[in-house]
Amino acid sequence: MQFEKTKTYQNLASSFAGECQAGMRYQMTAKLAMQEDLKCLSDAIRTIAKNETFHATQFFNKMIEKAGSKENIRLDAGYPFHAGTLLEGLKFAEGDEKDEATEIYPKFAEIAEKEGFNDIALLFRQVAEVERHHNAIFNYLNTAVKDGTLYKCDKPILWICSQCGYMHVATEAWQTCPLCKASQGYVELHLPFEGVRE
Ligand SMILES: [Fe+2]
Ligand SMILES: [Fe+2]
Repeated sequence: MQFEKTKTYQNLASSFAGECQAGMRYQMTAKLAMQEDLKCLSDAIRTIAKNETFHATQFFNKMIEKAGSKENIRLDAGYPFHAGTLLEGLKFAEGDEKDEATEIYPKFAEIAEKEGFNDIALLFRQVAEVERHHNAIFNYLNTAVKDGTLYKCDKPILWICSQCGYMHVATEAWQTCPLCKASQGYVELHLPFEGVRE
């Protein structure tokens, strides 16, 4: 079957567009974190934004490999278009990542497999796995920012200043770094892996 006639063709194109947009939305959310003087939170969100642009690149390259350059591709797809506060941005991101990880990409992988494109099915599954991890991070960040526990823990843990490297074990990070005077937002985060806070 001609690649342009397959569903996978459309799915790859909309995935490229979706990842580009997610990357940009997260950059805007990272900016909001910076406005609240939360540098390490901003960096964490920017890292995820970067991941999304790499996903977009992979989808783009696959598209070029299979179909070559195109003048224009018409897409009929839904794209989230929400704005709001930092907290709302984190909440939206958590939901979007969940949809990608549990519904959109697994479905696209299945379709690609049925249409005989095992390499594209694998790509969708690999990206879905990353989005599952992104969902866990946004889930943690959303809760931590909402509850004010980004820099608190019920047991003593190691806090490290991302600027000067000052370290201290406590249940709560300092407000101002005793060594370099950087604010609390410069203390490194304790991000979860697969939803578990180490
Ligand atoms: Fe992505
Ligand atoms: Fe993601």
